[in-house]
Amino acid sequence: MKRTLLAAASLLLMTAAYAAEPVKIGFLVKQAEEPWFQDEWRYAEQAAKEKGFALVKIGVPNGEKMIAAIDNLAAQKAQGFVICAPDVKLGTAVERAAKRNNMKVISVDDRLVDGGGKPIASIPHMGISGYAIGKQVGEGIAAEIKARKWNMAEVGAIRVAYDQLPTAKERTMGAVDALKAAGFPVANIVDAPQAKTDTESAFNAANIALTKNARFKHWVAVGLNDEAVLGAVRAAEGRGIKADNMVGVGIGGAKAAQNELSKPAATGFFGSVMISAREHGYQTSVNMYDWITGKAVPPGEVLTKGMLMTRANQADVRKQMGQ
Ligand code: GLA
Repeated sequence: MKRTLLAAASLLLMTAAYAAEPVKIGFLVKQAEEPWFQDEWRYAEQAAKEKGFALVKIGVPNGEKMIAAIDNLAAQKAQGFVICAPDVKLGTAVERAAKRNNMKVISVDDRLVDGGGKPIASIPHMGISGYAIGKQVGEGIAAEIKARKWNMAEVGAIRVAYDQLPTAKERTMGAVDALKAAGFPVANIVDAPQAKTDTESAFNAANIALTKNARFKHWVAVGLNDEAVLGAVRAAEGRGIKADNMVGVGIGGAKAAQNELSKPAATGFFGSVMISAREHGYQTSVNMYDWITGKAVPPGEVLTKGMLMTRANQADVRKQMGQ
């Protein structure tokens, strides 16, 4: 009798110890310096405060740092992590590292793929609906071309491209398709492949495109994010193409875009389709927390929406998106 009681008591103690094990979640992003990722982290912090878990934020600019970060999280007894990997092709490596360390993993922004380039279905994902949001970009530009009564034959379109990242390709192709649907001449669309997804690389790519296509009177620009379009806008400015001859629409709507749209004088950065850093940062963290604590398994895939933000409606869009 005594022995059974003792056994039961120790079992109870063990369960209590397990339940009291503090929840620790990693949030790994490929470009920590980018305002979008700063925002995601900020909203993840909010979730951590509300739910009472520890959040470990780590920048993972390359594969080596990423694997080291995952192992480090395991050493710190984290039970799971949310990740936007530096390269989606690292998907299998991410899954293996998570399994090896007995951690759960959710991807955010960039969907991880396997060796054959197929999305890894066993890793729950939250990303934007790339093609639909790209279409919003193209439609916004087409409407502005019409408002300015430009002759489309005289307009060049720069597609700042980063096609090795599926969401980047979907976004920019959505934009191109919307332009085409509005009657934009296909021959006037110029691809400008960027080496990295930052403003400097976009600037360099757009500069080459502008130099090679000096025949156009007006320009428009699309890209995977605000940084890409800002790079194109700065390159155009360097060649004397300013707000009255340039319509760039980005994707993101974080600080970089907000600052640009708040400058006293308009620039070629006409607007940005604002997407929800709150949902990507807050909700993925809550989903991970619920998963670890056994409350709920995260949805397999969530695709979030965006809203076109310009100088005219900036305050309203921010309010509506709750950001
Ligand atoms: C990708 C881009 C980021 C941001 C996110 C949004 O990761 O590189 O700039 O646009 O998608 O999901």
